[in-house]
Amino acid sequence: MSEQTPSYLAGHLAPVQDETEATGLHVTGALPPELTGRYFRNGPNPLPGEDSGHWFAGHGMLHGVRLENGRAAWYRNRWVRTRRLDGARPIGPDGTRDLAAGAANTSVIQHAGRILALMETSYPYELSPELDTLGPCDFGGRLTTGMTAHPKEDPCTGELHLFDYGVRPPYLTYHRLTADGELATSFPVEVPGPTMMHDFAITPHHIVWLDLPVVLDPDLVGRGVPYRWSDSYTARIGLMGRNDPAVRWFDIEPCYVFHVGNAHEDDRGRVVLDAVRYGPDAWRAAWARAGGPPGPGQAAAAGVSSLHRWTLDPATGTVTEQALDDTGVEFPTLDDRLVGLPHRYLYAVDSHAIVKVDSEHGLVARHDLGADWHAGEAVFVPAAGSTDGSAAGSTGEDEGWLLSIVTHRSPSVPSRLLVHDATDLAAGPVATVHLPRRVPAGFHGTWIPDTEPHR
Ligand SMILES: [Fe+2]
Repeated sequence: MSEQTPSYLAGHLAPVQDETEATGLHVTGALPPELTGRYFRNGPNPLPGEDSGHWFAGHGMLHGVRLENGRAAWYRNRWVRTRRLDGARPIGPDGTRDLAAGAANTSVIQHAGRILALMETSYPYELSPELDTLGPCDFGGRLTTGMTAHPKEDPCTGELHLFDYGVRPPYLTYHRLTADGELATSFPVEVPGPTMMHDFAITPHHIVWLDLPVVLDPDLVGRGVPYRWSDSYTARIGLMGRNDPAVRWFDIEPCYVFHVGNAHEDDRGRVVLDAVRYGPDAWRAAWARAGGPPGPGQAAAAGVSSLHRWTLDPATGTVTEQALDDTGVEFPTLDDRLVGLPHRYLYAVDSHAIVKVDSEHGLVARHDLGADWHAGEAVFVPAAGSTDGSAAGSTGEDEGWLLSIVTHRSPSVPSRLLVHDATDLAAGPVATVHLPRRVPAGFHGTWIPDTEPHR
């Protein structure tokens, strides 16, 4: 690394230079045969020699690992062939917006048989199961805004809830896909300004909005990602019905949230939201590390981002806040069959460890990788035959596997896909897939089992 290399292009974030593939990967330990499917992970990867100006802005690259009956059949990586990769810009010189010119670099999901690479404020790109790009997806012309990288699939209905935020009114738009993948519902939601909204939550009766004080700064347009902390923008959480744009807002202590763990309704009708919370200094420090403009707090004792619980009571209009744990974490995950429903466990990562957090008892298990290794998001895959843990006599909520790609800080060391038993995280991985190359630390992944057919 030269002294001129930005931090978001160095060490565990250093991009790879090309696309490759390999078959018959070496595995140590024993891969559970039931893990038959594909693990895909998205992240920014600028082209060789390119400086994207911000960690969040690099071109999307998918890394895929095919697991099959106890074997690791293949690995391959592919850039998403976006219009941006061809040089198009999201906003043209005349101010027109090209929704197909996003970087598609943040997450990857499968819904209604479509595999989508996602980046907020732009169209998703549809991929083949072999990671070939099929093209931008606007759901038959019905999506006229961008799409968040964190849509929420309702496990009870199969519907996919999503939104877009923008720089002009309406600053926020809600959308919903049917279980068949048809865009059936869209309407604007009123917020006072151009807030950066990376994630949201759902419960059976509510959409949960995060209207938080990181807002567009027009003076920063053209310099990385043009958002900054605002001391004058009120931090609020909002509750909205599924078919009514009226929102009930709850003022909260100033903070920012990139990622929601989950939300649910308790037996008193209150909405409980668990998410990773940044105070102002922690946000500024994290933003500076990612490549944003430096600000106060960058060099200060900034604190960490940690799991936090907000309990919102529609009957009284009050909100209470409490820390769930004080460990510095990001990328919370859970059994996706519990999205919007009560859960006990969240999984997350700090820089060098995978952790398990019990909503009653805080951090209950961790697997440390050592200081040279960076932990990627741990995706939970339910064990075969398990249930979501919510019914009497059911299996434990944590009966399943955690899949995480880990990256060494030396660019010459190949990466690994770790498989942990979520009931015994501290025991270390049950299997390690030795990947044929390094995989830069990135953002979000997903497991697509063969039992969920693609289109
Ligand atoms: Fe994210």
